[in-house]
Amino acid sequence: MKYEFIKRENLKEKPHGELGFGKYFTDYMFSMDYTDQVGWHDVKILPYGDVNLNPATMVLHYAQETFEGLKAYRGADGKVYLFRPEMNARRFINSNKRMCMPIVPEDLFIGAIEELVKVEEAWIPEKEGESLYIRPFMFANETSVGVHVAKTYKFLIIASPVGAYYPQGIDPVKIYVEDEYVRASPGGTGFVKCGGNYAASLIGQAKAEELGYTQVLWLDGVHRRYVEEVGSMNAMFVIDGKVITAPIEGTVLPGVTRDSILKLLEEYGYEVVEKHLSIDELIEAARSKKLTEAFGTGTAAVISPIGELYYKGEKVQVNDFKTGNLTHRLYKDLTDIQWAKVEDKYAWRREVK
Ligand code: COI
Repeated sequence: MKYEFIKRENLKEKPHGELGFGKYFTDYMFSMDYTDQVGWHDVKILPYGDVNLNPATMVLHYAQETFEGLKAYRGADGKVYLFRPEMNARRFINSNKRMCMPIVPEDLFIGAIEELVKVEEAWIPEKEGESLYIRPFMFANETSVGVHVAKTYKFLIIASPVGAYYPQGIDPVKIYVEDEYVRASPGGTGFVKCGGNYAASLIGQAKAEELGYTQVLWLDGVHRRYVEEVGSMNAMFVIDGKVITAPIEGTVLPGVTRDSILKLLEEYGYEVVEKHLSIDELIEAARSKKLTEAFGTGTAAVISPIGELYYKGEKVQVNDFKTGNLTHRLYKDLTDIQWAKVEDKYAWRREVK
């Protein structure tokens, strides 16, 4: 892939100690621009830094913005891997189609990530559980305050060395079930990874945090009755030995980790049911202890056990607020594949070389 490389004068000092999530950024970023006449052009890797925006830049007013999230791992064999980047590339295409934004072809999307990762290889952490989080994103940068599909866009990729998304790591998190606000409705943008979805979810997140909860479990936008997803993860519930998760029908994000976990569960012999699970059924299953485990799945969060649900004033615990055996097994098997500790039988790893 051809691009211009703009070298920075001094490299940054790498962080020491706990990385947390999304606090540090590498030395460089990838950038390219789009116009209807020229298509994608001005492809470069340049020093990580501010982006100048005119106050009338359309994204600031009408939120035409999409993004992705994936990780680069330092494998046990010393090589560098991405995990299923083609799934992110395809989801990004679907997001951009829904938001009337230009497509980044799959090979260009993956090629750009690989070039940045090669430049930033020294930033891939080597400690257990740490990786380089990669954030590709696109926004409308035409200057205009009329509402219309923008004619110009910028695509950037930034990278951040990260540890666990939640400070709890693989320990259970407490989840607040939101029964007032909704995240997505049929025909809307629930399946799209766009900033607007996250902006609209912040009010639920703020309520949850005020009550001492880590995240929100969203109910469907029509009935406020069926369980959909957690703000930063897809959600799965083990009830009577079956694993239940919301179907991908337009209101839930089609998660890469979700898809990978469903494959592992099938391999283990679990029955996976993609269905509309009502919140009443879920809470009743928790009360009667038929809900034996619950967990979220996501690139940032990996697998995060849910230890408590709060719904309409009632608190119910899951597995006595302990991480269950299935959750542990899935976490280990998934991360062993990601960190190249085991054979890649599903061809999920892509070596960056
Ligand atoms: C990811 O898991 O990659 C996401 O984009 C979720 C975000 C809340 C960090």
